[in-house]
Amino acid sequence: MGVAFASLLGSGAAAAAYGQTPNAGSHVGSQPVFRLDGGNTTYAFGVNERGELQQLYWGGRLGEHDVIDPAKSEDVLSGFDSSYNNTPQEYAGWGAELYLEPALKVTFADGNRDLVLHYASSSKHDDNSIDVVVKDISRAVIVTLHYNIDPESGIVARSATIENHEPNPIMIEQAAAAAFSLPAAHYTLSYLSGRWAGEWTLNEEAIHQGQRVLESRRGSTGVQLNPWFAIGKGNAGEEQGETWFGALAWSGSWRITVEQDSLDKVRVTGGFNPFDFGYLLEPGEKLESPVFYAGYTDHGMGGASRLLNRFTLTHILPQAPSPKLRPVIYNSWEATQWNVSEAVEGALAEKAAALGVDRFVMDDGWFGQRKSDHAGLGDWYVNKEKFPNGLKPLIDKVHSLNMDFGLWVEPEMVNPDSDLYRNHPDWVLNFPGRPRSEDRNQLVLNLARPDVRKYVFDAMDKLLTENDIAFLKWDYNRNWSEPGWDQLPANEQKKVYVEFTRNLYSILAELRAKHPGVEIESCSGGGGRVDLGILHYTDEVWPSDNTDPLDRLTQQDGFTHAYPVQTMAAWVTDSPHWLNSRTSLMTYRMLVSMQGVLGIGGNLNNWTNEDMAIARRLVAAYHQVQKTVTQGDLYRLISPTNGSEFSATETVSPDKSQAVFFAFVHSTQEGRSFPRSQLLGLDPKAIYALGSIEGKAAEGTPTEASGAWWMNHGIEVALQGDFQGAAFRLDRK
Ligand code: DGJ
Repeated sequence: MGVAFASLLGSGAAAAAYGQTPNAGSHVGSQPVFRLDGGNTTYAFGVNERGELQQLYWGGRLGEHDVIDPAKSEDVLSGFDSSYNNTPQEYAGWGAELYLEPALKVTFADGNRDLVLHYASSSKHDDNSIDVVVKDISRAVIVTLHYNIDPESGIVARSATIENHEPNPIMIEQAAAAAFSLPAAHYTLSYLSGRWAGEWTLNEEAIHQGQRVLESRRGSTGVQLNPWFAIGKGNAGEEQGETWFGALAWSGSWRITVEQDSLDKVRVTGGFNPFDFGYLLEPGEKLESPVFYAGYTDHGMGGASRLLNRFTLTHILPQAPSPKLRPVIYNSWEATQWNVSEAVEGALAEKAAALGVDRFVMDDGWFGQRKSDHAGLGDWYVNKEKFPNGLKPLIDKVHSLNMDFGLWVEPEMVNPDSDLYRNHPDWVLNFPGRPRSEDRNQLVLNLARPDVRKYVFDAMDKLLTENDIAFLKWDYNRNWSEPGWDQLPANEQKKVYVEFTRNLYSILAELRAKHPGVEIESCSGGGGRVDLGILHYTDEVWPSDNTDPLDRLTQQDGFTHAYPVQTMAAWVTDSPHWLNSRTSLMTYRMLVSMQGVLGIGGNLNNWTNEDMAIARRLVAAYHQVQKTVTQGDLYRLISPTNGSEFSATETVSPDKSQAVFFAFVHSTQEGRSFPRSQLLGLDPKAIYALGSIEGKAAEGTPTEASGAWWMNHGIEVALQGDFQGAAFRLDRK
């Protein structure tokens, strides 16, 4: 069962609202209850006696015939606690007595700013989708709330379309995709934070009264905070306990507010960041919010990430529901930086091919007058000094080595030292007459402008048309500043926050449609643009410029809470590492990257024969288990965070026929050996054969045993020392 219309006043009669046409805003005479069931989850909401849309239930799946009573607004607690404020509204307008975070805030042409949204109508699309229309009590602002539940995962997709049917324009000052509510309890909030080269730190903190704001004001997703949250109830942990989670599909400035009210209820509101926001809606116009996805599990954080990550694989990614396995790439950035040329890249390509690499990617430096980060961005023609005959000879060579070819671009940016900027200085985000702040010697093109959008699309389209390119690494190396758009009247200029990102999405979609074989990586100096919005148009992301293996272990742990391994590019680079001088073994570096989408990013000219042999052997081993590692169900058995000596993950294929187990030690002390690991998610009755990918199991470990044995007794690994790793596969017999 997907969407159902349940009882009227608990009587069991079908809701009169079903299929009703929009009511001109008057209070409806009935109180419909809407119920969505999917996976192990039920999400229910209804219309309260005042006409507001109110959440009724979000949690474990209820019985099919269970009756959910109609909504009843919260009682007034005191003169300070209005019912309008405390009632868990699905999408509250800022008006009446609302002090909590509004979902929608507008200013009307006459200065009125009171907005109170009441139920008007609903329409069911199919078993899993329903639109519910709410409307202001006196003015023609109509909001359609879109609901869709995924029948497998129970993940609910919510968004809102805001329409102005007033005779005059309205200014939207704040617009959420959705608000989700939880009843009063003790909760822990988890979220991801970071900085350049230090992305994906998992934070956990108790939720207390007041707001915890997760946001980006930077024009793009940002590395500082990621638009994902999880909320565990009571003692919920990695594999147990009720956990709610969500992710906002938006790559522009965003905000998620987690707020506990004075009655201890929690409301999570997410959408466009209201900071500096202003979207003018002329009569008849509408604004679509991003989509906010949210789900529930009683299997803790691990259960939450398995649900969300499978949902992303099967519903979000461009190749969903069955994304292809990611090619093992070689990327030349750390080897050459900007010093690329036909000869240099050709030599690296030969070495990469010898490792069994599938795709050769040339990074920054091939275009315009690009010798460093000081010049060239915006000029997307091939640099003739470095590539006298264009890219074709290199691409042909890469193909002759049985690899396909990928190329780095950064289309939304421009260096002031470029032909593009010299010709179009007005194309960048700026406030006329004011300074233009540069980062990495570059400015941000105003992609919201139609002429800029056309230039960027045409430049990328030309590159892809003229060259046999299988992959674009789409980089974005700074945040916005001075975000002016002076082509528009003053009261419309803030539309840049919406139109820039929409144009980015439409360029990516159009390029993919015109060049269907091309795959794209989202990179923003590392993990600065990773969210479910961009992942609808890109196949993978570059999680961090930090490729040090120990740091990557914790980053990968954080990353997998919100995003699937299938999207998590992971290069093996050189030792000692450029960022922190850490020395590590080739096997350790390889195994850490094999937890993700394996790639090679070191300077192969300096690798020893032994390094090359280890890498070649492990690339081949990776190919054999890649489907399980990147598309299976991940169990984070031991977290590498908080200075843990040990860490371990296990990934199980959806049909439970294979599992892959990785174990790492940071540095063992006092003779302690690796803890016995009880595996999870296997078929207890099936027999699994144990095979080593790298490293040894402890003496006496059986070569085959039941799933029950591996899960109850567990596996012991012979692993000691500093920065050591091991990996095993279990294959069902
Ligand atoms: C930042 C990216 O994260 C790096 O991998 C590399 O592509 C550089 N940009 C190139 O400028």
